[in-house]
Amino acid sequence: MTRRYPLPGRVQLARGERTVVHIAQRSIALFNVDNSLYAIDDSCPHAGSSLAGGKVDGRMVQCPAHGLCFSLETGGMRYGGGLAVQTYPVSVEDGRIVISLPDTEPQLESAKVPA
Ligand code: FES
Repeated sequence: MTRRYPLPGRVQLARGERTVVHIAQRSIALFNVDNSLYAIDDSCPHAGSSLAGGKVDGRMVQCPAHGLCFSLETGGMRYGGGLAVQTYPVSVEDGRIVISLPDTEPQLESAKVPA
């Protein structure tokens, strides 16, 4: 089961942009790559650095701390390996970005976004 979190309508990402949103006690990095949206945990699985500030190359993001690269599509590492970042389904519905998370937590919180 998943729970869908529509972001406030003011959250729009132009091509090449990224942001961080906070949903259900998670920090999620949201990327627009060639007008496709990708949502991943913002915390790098290696040592926790923010992936939102990483360099994007194609559909990969490079962690700014130590350089590991993760697929925005699958969460896996560029050349395989044991680490992976969590990815989340993301869509646009009625002009609003919607992120779906596993429905394993209390449903008390709505999406929070930077001002
Ligand atoms: S914290 Fe991301 S590669 Fe080390």
